This record gives sequence, structure tokens and C-alpha cells, in this order.
Amino acid sequence: MTSIGVIFGGRSVEHEVSVLTAHQAMAALDDTDFSIVPVYIGKDGQWYTGTALRELSAFADIASLMRRLQMVRMSFGEGRLVLEPRAHGLRRFGAGSLAIDVALPLVHGTFGEDGTLQGLLEMANVPYIGCDVAASAIGMDKHLTKVVLGAAGVPVLPYLMVWQKDPGLAQIAERISSGFGFPVYVKPRNLGSSIGVSRVASADELGDAIELALSYTDGALIEPSQEGAIEINCSVMRKDGAPVASVCEQLTKRGLVSYVDKYMGGAKQPARESKSTQAPAAKGGMKNAGRIVPAPLGAATTRRVQEMSMAAYSAIHADGIVRVDLLMDEASGKLTVNELNTIPGSLAFYLWSETGLSFPRLLETAVTDSRRRFFARDEHSYSIDSWLLSGAPPVSGK
Ligand SMILES: Nc1ncnc2c1ncn2[C@@H]1O[C@H](COP(=O)(O)OP(=O)(O)O)[C@@H](O)[C@H]1O
Ligand SMILES: [Mg+2]
Repeated sequence: MTSIGVIFGGRSVEHEVSVLTAHQAMAALDDTDFSIVPVYIGKDGQWYTGTALRELSAFADIASLMRRLQMVRMSFGEGRLVLEPRAHGLRRFGAGSLAIDVALPLVHGTFGEDGTLQGLLEMANVPYIGCDVAASAIGMDKHLTKVVLGAAGVPVLPYLMVWQKDPGLAQIAERISSGFGFPVYVKPRNLGSSIGVSRVASADELGDAIELALSYTDGALIEPSQEGAIEINCSVMRKDGAPVASVCEQLTKRGLVSYVDKYMGGAKQPARESKSTQAPAAKGGMKNAGRIVPAPLGAATTRRVQEMSMAAYSAIHADGIVRVDLLMDEASGKLTVNELNTIPGSLAFYLWSETGLSFPRLLETAVTDSRRRFFARDEHSYSIDSWLLSGAPPVSGK
């Protein structure tokens, strides 16, 4: 049986969201023919495995969960990722090593969605679901996304980058005023889930917003605020190699949609009637945020959103299940692509189930596609007949 390594957690501010996504995916994989190997990357960056990782409630008490897990180290073995047991404190559990045939990386954000984990899997020569190193890195970086989409003719908002903590605020405020004008959005270059994102009404608030963004990453992106814009998302994946789009969703909230809005259904505290340790909405992850699916846009606009999403997907040469987030000015109908999430919350399964593709079938399609890419790539040549070091004379040229 093919073993699928579901890799989640990670050194990212979206660690908890990743745990939710992974649990949804593992529940769906139960209905497929894969054997599931959960691989949890702790906030310390260490890798763990163990059946306890299948219990979502166990994550409420990380310390006791950790005691039930096996710390593992990855090693490479002939197209399989091998997880070898490691000494865990004074104890050492189970001696056997585990092999993974195909990986499902579900670490949102840094060290997971940004190409780093994908690079590791490339080196291990293991097929993995989702974007490759370059597409992941572009999708995670709001600056590179603008550059690449802009070059491909996909509409994006204009922007300004600030790279250092002491940027000469008066000068930046002046450039904004004479350019796209206030209000603006200030964002860390490569985070997600609205963390570190601020809406800035005037020059007075600019310094704090830039400082906040730069406290998370090197590089803050400033762009005009699309006041009252509708947020529309559409997922894209490949079927037999060609991009296809899901139905669209429309977020019900206008203005800055925060982390709390996204994952806790707008509730700042877990609902009082909840007996569980998780907010009920948090259990649903992205599925539960305030949203209308399918978005009530009409056939022509829906088509435009889908085509723009597929164009954005193709522009970064994406693979796997991506969610493209767009902003639409209601009055003019103008659409811009805001960002691409290359490992979207809940893997955007709720947008595909609307098209008749269940989460288990969605994952099977994604695995098939990851293997298609893997084997196609294997046909490339990785060496040339070189005389460089053998002492034989070159045929021509230098
Ligand atoms: N230019 C903009 N105009 C209006 N709202 C915006 C703009 N940029 C971002 N937002 C709001 O801020 C939220 C977070 O910004 P986003 O670019 O999606 O960053 P993240 O990667 O953290 O999700 C969006 O979901 C939206 O609500
Ligand atoms: Mg976003």
C-alpha cells in the first residue's frame, strides 16, 4: 500500500491552522487507499510521528502529546523518505523506521509553504503534492507575486516596498500621497492569515504599521486600500496536467479580514456553550469563516474570476491545490489578484466539493498529478557528456 506522509505544524505563525488542515485531510484520506503517516513538525522545528497525532483534542495539551510521540529524523532512501527514530529525552520508542512514498506538505507559511520543505523533498527524491520550490517561493512572497503576475499581465494593485526599519517615513508618505494615496495596506512580505497586516488611514499611522510588518519579516509591502472591496477566492488545481478552477467563494466581511474572523467565525472567545477545548469554528478551519459558496457573482463575473485565477496559477507555474484570492471593486467591477495561497487552509476542499469533487477524490487527483510531474521530471537529463575534468580536449569553443 502506498504510504502518504502528511507533514504539518512547522515553525510558522500559522502552526495551529496547519494542524486543523492536516486533520481535515487525514480524515478524508481515511476514505482512500493510502496508509497515513502523520508527521508533525513542532514549533521547535523537530519532527515527530505517532498515532496520537490523529487525535485533534490531544493538541490542546502539547506537552503531554509530545510525550506520546516518537521524535524522528528524516533520511533519504531510493525515492522514499525514511523516518528514523531518534532518542527522545531519556526514552526511545519503537525501533522501526517508517518509509513515505508520497508526501503531502500541509505546513502553512514559513518553512513549509515557501519552498523550503519542498526543497527538502526534492533532495529526498520523493513525489510531493503541491507547488514546487520556485512556485512556492513566489506564492509566499507578496513582492515576487506582484513582479511575476505583473509580468504575465495578470492585474495586481500597484505597490511600494520598504526594506529597512528606518526607512525615512516622510519620504515614503510623500511617495504614497503623490502616487496611489491613502488609505493603504501595509503587510509583511511573506506571512499569511492577516498576521502583521494593517490598514493605514494617514501618514501618522504609517510608522507603526511598517514597524509591525518588519517585526515579522524583512520587507513590508504597501499598496492602496480597495475600500469596501469584495474579497473573492477561487481554487485552481491540475487535472491531467491542465489547470481547472473550482467554484468561487465570497467573504461576507468587508475591510480587514483578521485571523479571528478567518478561523474563529468572528468570535473573539470560544463559544460559551462549547464543552470542547477548541472553539467550534476553529475545528472547521477555513471552511467555517463567514463566506458565501458559491459566490453570488453571476455567470460572467464568475467566469472572469476563474480565468484570472487560472492565469495567476499558470503565471507562477503552480501545481497542486492553490487558492487564488482576489479583490473586486463593486462599483466598477474591477478585479485584481491579491495573493496565491499555495497550501490553502483546509486545502480549499469546500470549494471543490461544490463542484462534485469530494475531499477524498480531490486528494487522489492531487496525488496522481504529483506523480505525473515527478515522473515527467525524471525524464529530463541531469548530466551532459562533459570532458571538463577528464583531460580530453573540448570539442569546440572555450
Ligand atoms: N489592498 C487591499 N484593499 C483592501 N483590503 C485589503 C487589501 N489588502 C489586504 N486587505 C485585507 O487584509 C487581509 C489580509 O491581507 P492579505 O494580503 O490577504 O494577507 P495574508 O497573506 O496575511 O492573508 C485580506 O484578507 C483583506 O481583508
Ligand atoms: Mg490573504
